[in-house]
Order: sequence, then structure tokens, then C-alpha cells
Amino acid sequence: MPPMKAFYLTTAIDYANGSPHLGHAYEKVLTDVVARFQRAQGREVYFLTGLDEHGQKVQQSAGKKGISPQAFCDAIALEFQDLCLNLSISNDDYIRTTEERHKQVVGEIQQALFDKGEIYKGRYNGFYSARQEQFLQDKDRNEDGSWPEIFGDVFQISEENYYFRLSRYQDWLIRFLKENEDFIFPRFRQKQVLEFLKEPLNDLCISRPKSRLAWGIPLPFDQDYVTYVWFDALINYVTGSGYMAGDTSRWPADYHVIGKDIMVPAHSIYWPIMLHACDIPLPRHLLVHGFWTTEGAKMSKSTGNTVNPLHLADRFGTDSFRYFVTREMKVGQDSDFTVEQYMRRYTSDLGNDLGNLVNRVLNMVGRYAGGIVPGVEVEEEPEGELKDLFHSTHGKVVELGQDFQFHTALEEIFQFIRAINRYAEIRAPWKLARSERAEDRILLDTALATLAEGLRLAAVWLWPVMPGISEKIQTLLGLEAGFDIAENLVWDYRVVGKSVGGKTILFPRPESK
Ligand code: MSP
Repeated sequence: MPPMKAFYLTTAIDYANGSPHLGHAYEKVLTDVVARFQRAQGREVYFLTGLDEHGQKVQQSAGKKGISPQAFCDAIALEFQDLCLNLSISNDDYIRTTEERHKQVVGEIQQALFDKGEIYKGRYNGFYSARQEQFLQDKDRNEDGSWPEIFGDVFQISEENYYFRLSRYQDWLIRFLKENEDFIFPRFRQKQVLEFLKEPLNDLCISRPKSRLAWGIPLPFDQDYVTYVWFDALINYVTGSGYMAGDTSRWPADYHVIGKDIMVPAHSIYWPIMLHACDIPLPRHLLVHGFWTTEGAKMSKSTGNTVNPLHLADRFGTDSFRYFVTREMKVGQDSDFTVEQYMRRYTSDLGNDLGNLVNRVLNMVGRYAGGIVPGVEVEEEPEGELKDLFHSTHGKVVELGQDFQFHTALEEIFQFIRAINRYAEIRAPWKLARSERAEDRILLDTALATLAEGLRLAAVWLWPVMPGISEKIQTLLGLEAGFDIAENLVWDYRVVGKSVGGKTILFPRPESK
């Protein structure tokens, strides 16, 4: 039997012409949450991210620094790889488009398309935007005839180039999208693509003369030209899967996670057509997220410095950053990043709800049970209610996670965490501990075990979003940390008899940082 295909997940590959920012960080965290959530469900996951290194902008940025484009990219690659490490991103591979393995695959795909007659040479007379590295048409103009700002300097050129027969596949693509309504998540995005396809597609210029742009992958059939950067970059997903080298255990991708700005035309039009034209299976889905704005995050009294959102991860812990961006962004929509909201989430959800619960459990088990979680002899209504809430929450969390509704899943988990805190108030172990009655001792044991078990389960749920905190809590409860849903998300009092750790502050107050 052939090996089961891995769940293959990719992020966009970041442009190597600047340092990482919040948008890059978010996309990596989101993809990592999906990857970990799938792993928690027992699936084998293969997660690829990387760097998009060719093109005019990189050549220009390197030129300004007086270094070679390769040296420039090497330095940026380190920054992005550091970002992945700092954010606990669990990618299996990191692809750079200047790597030999990638250049080879790009060459093979272009040659195959050329041999099939899908690529031809033609002359273009018209306008060109250097900033966007794009040939322009009259429909790209503003109403008053000027060019939109995003194009930067626009000039007229007359140039021979190679073209990919994109237009030939327009009807096929429309049919494909209509037959596969869930190709793009969220679905409303698919409608935008169909809307775009109401206008006729032009063939795609896939080359740039070396005389004008040297920093790119040479065309295999004409060494005077390099590959247009998008035609090169998209192919990274196939290169990284090993498909062209004969490894079929990953491709097709299950999800390409990308931002809304690069859905049309690159990922929803060029990419499916490129693959279809050379008989490579299509990715199963695109997961298109929205944009973070940071208007509100310029300066903040509460942290006292100019805020780069990425510094908040250094300051308040990776997992708090992962929690914040996952909790605040409904996947597919936009969100505004403000330091105030970050601090609210940090102090209220993480500090007051989760951090306090951890402290309470460790303190009380230490103080009233010698540091060992006692056994359960009775279960009454309060325990039953909490258990019921666990079970109903569990179904919802798994379903929401499958639907990428991680922000609501977190809300559900935190409602459970708050319910455990309320349970502690109801049972009031500090009162039971003062009582001489044997029944109260039994209830005290039950309360401590219930609190510890509830906390354990919440920690397992949180693993995809806060892997470090989840593992820490489980270790503090005397357990080997686990994340597998089927194995670990069972209310079975496996904490009983375990020796818990001492007082630990997981989310220190901002002023004491
Ligand atoms: N290099 C191309 C992608 C090629 S994929 C074959 C690119 N790079 S990028 O660095 O500009 O963007 C990388 C990813 O970050 C994209 O998915 C983009 O949408 C995302 N984001 C960039 N800014 C963003 C926000 N402000 N918010 C959320 N994500 C955003 O495009």
C-alpha cells in the first residue's frame, strides 16, 4: 500500500526585500496553529515556509547597500528564520528560491510548458511599472488617465518576451471553480475570483530580459532571459514537496495559506492554470486571511516604547503573542492591532483567568495535599456540571478548529477556564481545609483533583495556539506533556497521584517585567 499522503500545508514565501513584520508573523502563526491542530488530531503534517528571493526589488535593495543580491538575501533569510524560531513555528522545511533544488524544478516546469507549446515569444509595446514589475494596460489607469500610486514610476517600453498561454484556460478555470465551491476559504473570496474572471484574461509575460534584470532564474530555453518572479515563486510549493524529484507523499498541497492581497491573480488564476497546463494535480484549497492594520499601535504609555508588535512577543512571551493574534483575528477578515487590546488580553485572559487558575491549583495541592493530587471518591453536582461543560465544549472546539474558527474556539476554551475558576469558588477548598469533618476532607480531595484535571484538559486544548504554555502546565501537573486529542482530551483524572510543581508565574504583570 502506498504511504498515506501527509497533510501538506504552506505559507506564502516572504519577499526578501525587507525585514519581517506583523503580517508575516501572523501568517506563520496561523499556519502553525492549523498544522498543530491537524497533528493533534493524529494526522501527519508537512509544513513548508520560506523566502522569495528574486526580482528587481531585491536587486535594487542589495545595490543600495553595495552588496550582492545573494549576500543581501542570506542576511534577510536569517532574520526570517529567527522569526520562525522566536514564534515556535513548527515548519518541517524552509525553502529559499535561490536554492539549486528550486532552480531545477522551475527550469523543468518551464521546459515542459515550452515543449507543449504553452509558452511563446512575443513583442510587447506599452507601459511598465518597475515597482510592481508588471506590464500595464489601459484598464489599470485611474479614471483621469493617470497611473495609480502603487505602480510608482511608469514608463513606456517595447520589448520581446516569453508569454504563457493563460487565456487559453480561462473557461476551464471558471468551470473548475464552479465545480469546486470550497476551493477557497472563506467562500466569499471565491466569488471575487469569479468576478475577476468575467473580464478576458491576457497571456502572462513570464520573462524579463537579462539586460534589464539579472537577478532571476534563467529560462532553460533562452539564456538571455530570467523568469518573472511570480512564475518562479509559486513553484516553490511543488519544489518543497519533492514531487518533481519523485516523492509523491505530500503533493498536492492541502492548503496554501496566503493573504488576501496575493489571491488574485497569482494564487487563484496563474497557479491553478500553470499546474493544469503541465498536468500536475492542483492544490486542494487556498486559505486566504485578512490584513492587520497597526494604526493604533504607534506609541503606548503602557509599554513605554515605540511599538513594533513583534517586540511584544519578546517582552510578553511568544505564546501570548500567538494567543493574541489568534484570538483577535477572525480568519479571513481584517483586524486592527493595538497595544491596549494586547495588554487587555494579556492581563485579563492570560493573567487573571489562566495564570490565576494555574497558581491556585499548584498552591492548593501543595498546601492541602502535600503536593500530590488526591484521588476522587465522590462526584456531586458541581463536578458533574463542569464535566458536562468539558464535553460540550470539546465537540465545539474540534468543530471550530476544523473550520479555522480559532478565535471562537479560544473563546470557548476560556469560558471553560473561567468555569473552573467559578467551581473553585463554589467548592472553596480553603474552607473545606479548615473543617474537621471527614466528608469535607473527601470533598476537598475531589475539588483538588477536579481542578487539576480541568486545568490539564484546558492546557491540552491550548496546545496548537500556545504550545509552550500548554507543555509547561502539563509538566507542572506532573505529567508528560501530550497534545494528541484522542489520547489526551479524556476526562479520566490522570492527574491523580501526580506530584505537582511549586508556585510559578506564567504571565508576570507588565510593570514587574
Ligand atoms: N513573495 C510574495 C508571496 C509569494 S508566494 C508564492 C509576497 N510576499 S510578502 O512578503 O509581501 O507577503 C507575505 C505574506 O504576508 C502574504 O501572504 C501577505 O498577504 C502577508 N501579509 C503582508 N502584510 C500583511 C498584513 N499587514 N497582515 C496580514 N498579512 C499580510 O507577497
